[in-house]
Amino acid sequence: MNLKKEIEDIKNEISRELNLSTSKKEIENIRIKYLGRKGIITQKLKNIKHLKDEEKPLYGKELNILKLTIEEEIAKRGQEITKTVKEEEQFFDWTMPGDRRWLGHLHPLTTTMDEIVEVFLRMGFTVELGPDVETDFYNFEALNFPKNHPSRDIQDTFYLENNLLLRTHTSPVQIRVMEKIKPPIRIISPGRCYRVDNFDSSHSPVFHQVEGLYVDENVSLSDLIGTLDIFAKAVFGSSTRTKFVPHFFPFTEPSAEVLVSCPFCKEKGCSTCKHTGWIEILGCGMVHPAVYRSVGYDPDKYSGFAFGLGIERVCMPKYGINDMRLFFENDLRFTKQF
Ligand code: PHE
Repeated sequence: MNLKKEIEDIKNEISRELNLSTSKKEIENIRIKYLGRKGIITQKLKNIKHLKDEEKPLYGKELNILKLTIEEEIAKRGQEITKTVKEEEQFFDWTMPGDRRWLGHLHPLTTTMDEIVEVFLRMGFTVELGPDVETDFYNFEALNFPKNHPSRDIQDTFYLENNLLLRTHTSPVQIRVMEKIKPPIRIISPGRCYRVDNFDSSHSPVFHQVEGLYVDENVSLSDLIGTLDIFAKAVFGSSTRTKFVPHFFPFTEPSAEVLVSCPFCKEKGCSTCKHTGWIEILGCGMVHPAVYRSVGYDPDKYSGFAFGLGIERVCMPKYGINDMRLFFENDLRFTKQF
């Protein structure tokens, strides 16, 4: 075959193939096809030795020029593709680890709240919710807070316009429920509460409680103690002990604070329980007759108990969390652990 024609044909074919190529990989395949160890041009160069002596120099020269031309064309097309093809398509390394998609999950306070609610649902309680924005009547007056009681002090309560305030506890839900229905009542009410407080390792202006209310005929103090003891064992483990320490709340009489034995040191004393062996988690008591009167119940007919559990106070010893601020700062390094 005519040498010039042969070289022309190869050139045209390569140009056609290069024009069709859209990736570095395809260009590399073209290079291998023509210039690789077993490539078309490489083979032709090897075959020169079989030609007639007088043909060899011309053929060799033309083939070497062709080889250089092909190398140039390949490099040129490579640059064009780099410009047009998006970066990730130029090179995709299938062995690279994939992008991790993080899955959200519940906040430890929500998990703890759900767990507390579960325990009381099993004991026949139902859930009632109340508003965060309350009136003085529901938050204080109906709960037998005297007009000059220190917790009504502007220091403790966030007051809003029009005689409204942010509830300082979940106890107003007791009043709202009793106004609505007659005994027997067995409700719990989880929710957010607000107090003008420092933001430090054991205080936060926003915190969470679960309120409980049980009203019927002949409900006794031992019902209260039994119920809360079952609760403590369900949440902190069956070997947990409870301690009822006399306390004061205007809306319960008698009143108590409940402490649970520290789940970490088993009463030996550690940093979680501030070396006392006990952790305070709730306030409770027998509903005060004045509260029944404010909702139109007959205090001689009904008796009952109420309690207010601090969800942070349950969650912190449960998971060994030593700073309440961690709950509210939303640092993923913290929340991811639960
Ligand atoms: N409301 C009280 C508090 O916030 C707790 C409590 C609830 C006490 C119900 C007795 C009965 O501290």
